Amino acid sequence: MASFTHTSVPRLKYGIREIVDVAVKLKEIDPAYNFVWENIGDPVAKGWPVPQFLKNIVKEKIDCPGDAVFGYSHSRGVINTRKWVVDYAKRFSPSSKLDCENVVFTSGLGSSIAILYQMMKPGKRIIQPAPAYPTHSSFESFSAGAPPLAYNLDPKDNWQPDLAHLESQLKNQPEICGLLVINPNNPTGAVYETETLEKIVKIAEKYGLFIISDEVYFRMTYNGRQHAQITEINQGRVPLVILRGLSKDIPWPGARCGWMEFHYGLKHSDFADFAAAVKQRILLEVCSTTLPQTILPELYDHPEFENWNKQYNQGLETAANQIAGILASSPSLEVLGANGAFYLMPLFKEGVLNNRQTLPIKNPEAKKYIESLANSPALPLDKRFTYYLLANTGIVAVPASDFYSPFPGFRVTTLDRDQTRRENTYARLIEAVAQYVQS
Ligand SMILES: Cc1ncc(COP(=O)(O)O)c(C=O)c1O
Repeated sequence: MASFTHTSVPRLKYGIREIVDVAVKLKEIDPAYNFVWENIGDPVAKGWPVPQFLKNIVKEKIDCPGDAVFGYSHSRGVINTRKWVVDYAKRFSPSSKLDCENVVFTSGLGSSIAILYQMMKPGKRIIQPAPAYPTHSSFESFSAGAPPLAYNLDPKDNWQPDLAHLESQLKNQPEICGLLVINPNNPTGAVYETETLEKIVKIAEKYGLFIISDEVYFRMTYNGRQHAQITEINQGRVPLVILRGLSKDIPWPGARCGWMEFHYGLKHSDFADFAAAVKQRILLEVCSTTLPQTILPELYDHPEFENWNKQYNQGLETAANQIAGILASSPSLEVLGANGAFYLMPLFKEGVLNNRQTLPIKNPEAKKYIESLANSPALPLDKRFTYYLLANTGIVAVPASDFYSPFPGFRVTTLDRDQTRRENTYARLIEAVAQYVQS
């Protein structure tokens, strides 16, 4: 039978979960494995308690007369919640012209991302940061039927965007009509300065681009950093899609609740058509999850929310600084501290990795399995390392190459709440790096 699978499927990469299949297989081979899940940014899985005020709001809504939260909601999202999103945007950007008709909810922000790239005209491209969050780069690449077009984030400049590289890409690729910014950044933990965003807006203006600003981590900044509002910086100059959601700033990623805000003015008619296309597309999904959307205003405006958020950021700051300190003591790694979100991406120093390095694996069958993966052709060297790390220590990290990174390394989270466990995990990790490099 002739194949009927889309030929671009190999462009859909999500290493954050692909490594889970490897761990599951190892556990089947040897049930003694105990994994440390550093692959995914799930605060609940890492021991962050769901605040009682959130649970109380959910309970109240579940028991509301009429059972409304069990039904369908408006295709673009619960109207009161969309109005709240508009008011919220004005609290931080008083000049915001956002209209609730241009706020669109989806079941998780991942779904917004998929829809955005699906609605792009064939041949038009959105330039991605590298390293990047793979849902963006993979969906863009899938829709384009071509590898992602990327601008580098510069590890020598605290992971800030390399704007000279961005401009050189734009000059050479006239098909680019939009650019993606992820701030605070996954996977690097960087937070962009106001001046950086100002320069990005100027570049977008110069090349006639719109900006997608993924701000799912906007409430998570620490080490003295603040999240700068791109809507305020932009002042309507270029069209903007702001992406936000419930998954990260309150421990409730299972809510599957994210949204897009289309910020534009009368002069941006092409962008108005694009927003209309997204809204048409969304009708076909009927609606997204009703319960989390319904409680969203009450949750973020709850008198206890600010305090919860403050404690969360303090905890993330302590963990990020401790982990960065331990990792930086490895002579094989280059480590930049995180100032936002909950990730760190240490890089291997130049020339440190080769394709003959190994770590001991006790179980002979597990060893055979990892060797079969490690010997697959064209395997990136950092991915090879994460396979051995997993089988030797049980630490599940994601290779930087799975984030389309031009630099070899790996991403870990800064979410573990237990200081002693954190110390043990990262001490073991740097020991494994040393042993692997010397093998
Ligand atoms: C930058 C970024 N955008 C979007 C998402 C997707 O979030 P959601 O859980 O709402 O699908 C994530 C999840 O990790 C993310 O890191």
